[in-house]
Amino acid sequence: MTTDAQTGDLQGDLLAAVRDAATPDAVEAVRVAALGKSGSITQLMKSLGGLAPDERLQVAPRYQALREAVSAAIEAKKATLGRAVLEARLAAERLDMNLPSTPGPVGSIHPISQVTDELSEIFADLGFTVAEGPEIETEWYNFTALNMPEEHPARAMHDTFYVRPEDGGERPSPEGENLRMVLRTHTSPVQIRTMMEGKTPIRIIAPGRVYRSDSDATHTPMFHQVEGMVIDRGIHLGHLKWTLETFVKAFFEVDDVTLRLRPSYFPFTEPSVEVDVGCSWEGGTLKVGGTPTSLAGSSAPSSWLEILGSGMVHPRVIANCGLDPDEWQGFAFGCGIDRLAMLKYGMTDLRAFFDADLRWLRHFGFAALDVPTLSGGVGA
Ligand code: PHE
Repeated sequence: MTTDAQTGDLQGDLLAAVRDAATPDAVEAVRVAALGKSGSITQLMKSLGGLAPDERLQVAPRYQALREAVSAAIEAKKATLGRAVLEARLAAERLDMNLPSTPGPVGSIHPISQVTDELSEIFADLGFTVAEGPEIETEWYNFTALNMPEEHPARAMHDTFYVRPEDGGERPSPEGENLRMVLRTHTSPVQIRTMMEGKTPIRIIAPGRVYRSDSDATHTPMFHQVEGMVIDRGIHLGHLKWTLETFVKAFFEVDDVTLRLRPSYFPFTEPSVEVDVGCSWEGGTLKVGGTPTSLAGSSAPSSWLEILGSGMVHPRVIANCGLDPDEWQGFAFGCGIDRLAMLKYGMTDLRAFFDADLRWLRHFGFAALDVPTLSGGVGA
């Protein structure tokens, strides 16, 4: 049995402990120490059983009052601390409802992708479909079938990357000889692959990556070309010129365009022509359009800029692909996509295209939804 004073001390100690408890865990520890199975108050309550009836009558109400006072203090403290914890959580997990619910646009379309979409759109309108071929080619598709046999000097003009034989860089030809694998040096092997499918007439463009071992401000070891090819009956150089003129006008969005066709040489076309476009200097940038008045260099107010190589597909190439060159003729052209992008959007250093510099990409990139269409415009 405890005295009145002892019960009072115990109550004072327990209430102080409750008051000092700073966390829900600390309150819980006080509760267990007082009201748990072997807690101090529980012990007192248990001791009532061993008392004489009159003693029990005397102390039971005190113990009861002690238990109620401590329980109430614990409950109250738990409620207070619980609220504090909730408030702290609400503050920490606060959502700013003023923030826009949809995130702003992140990332952009690379100018190469944009220009590829633009020219695909223009040629689709002229009835061309997009063809593709592998970037790792056999020498046969990249050179031999294009009228460049093994010892042909034109092979040396392409600074070719060869795949090492130990990396799988050899394939047996249908005749059983070993063919070396190369990173394609141009998109022209897609001409061969398409003709060999035999589905004439043909109107294709083939945009894609090509590789040459060359690097300076205007050359990168990987760059992009678009190949174009038409195979049909009665095709002549006039069709080529009209197609290119129509393309250049649509792509640069100028009506006043002059093309100059210069005789040239490619093993896979005969005749071959290189095509220049008339440009003028406006405020330090080169603009496509007009007829150059002089043939002077880049500092002149106007000049010619070479944009592509082309020609009539060589009859031997047509025959190499299993078609009869007496029945089928056509033209082909190959054009640097990077060069087109630089000219249209005013970039000066080709290497920046592949530096992955975010500031450059933000400046020259295109919005993802800015899809070029002929009706909406393929311009900037
Ligand atoms: N393949 C040539 C090159 O890369 C370009 C070309 C394509 C020329 C088609 C004529 C016809 O230089």
